Amino acid sequence: MDTMIGVIGGSGLYEIEGLADADWVTLETPFGDPSDQILTGTLDGVKMAFLPRHGRGHVHSPTTVPYRANIHALKSLGVTDIISVSACGSFREEMAPGDFVIVDQFIDRTVSREKSFFGSGLVAHVSVAHPVCMRLAAACQAAAEASGVSVHMGGTYLAMEGPQFSSLAESKLYREVWGCDVIGMTNMPEAKLAREAEIDYASVAMITDYDSWHPHHGEVDIADIIATLGANSDNARALIARLPKLLGTTRDTCPHGCDRALDFAVMTAPE
Ligand code: ADE
Repeated sequence: MDTMIGVIGGSGLYEIEGLADADWVTLETPFGDPSDQILTGTLDGVKMAFLPRHGRGHVHSPTTVPYRANIHALKSLGVTDIISVSACGSFREEMAPGDFVIVDQFIDRTVSREKSFFGSGLVAHVSVAHPVCMRLAAACQAAAEASGVSVHMGGTYLAMEGPQFSSLAESKLYREVWGCDVIGMTNMPEAKLAREAEIDYASVAMITDYDSWHPHHGEVDIADIIATLGANSDNARALIARLPKLLGTTRDTCPHGCDRALDFAVMTAPE
């Protein structure tokens, strides 16, 4: 099967450069319009599709991002592998602003989003015990290391609804009691929907701040985040540029079964 890498870019990443045959395409889906047009092309001979999660101009909040339309649109283009790139806060001293975390687990605390392609007529329950494809995650780690980015392999991402940041009590709960490593507002339900769509998914979380728990860093604010976003985005672009060579132009079925998630998930009886 041909590899097609889908990159969902977060805050600070609204385009990628260097694609051959670059074209912004407009797609409609049964779940509405995606966040924006999708930039298609090839990089080192590998098919690519880039979607700015918040739209160019940053017009969608974490709650209003059309997650189902985004995943559906990428699937309809033939995307086999999604790399999610997003900004996050850190709960760990050693995970500092500017570092990248290749997330491997999530706690989903989002409450105002459509989270499934299934329901009313066709019911399916996929497993998200292991929501990240570790084959893809390893490629992201290798690409980050080769790009000179300080990268941490593995970490639990708390997905919050937002748009407000956490209170101090919430920040301490997530860090001290729940053992989370990073916090962001967008990776859920994106990761769950990618699994339902049988697309391999990995998440590169780019740290912009220490959330509000850190005694020496005060509250998180947008000025801090924007100050870190520029360098993070350059590093994300460098990481993405290395992925095609690492993943190759063709791929086998996923060794972890991410691309066969529906094989035993559908409950509704066939007609
Ligand atoms: N995105 C970047 N920093 C964040 C934080 N501290 N909380 C939630 N989302 C974030």
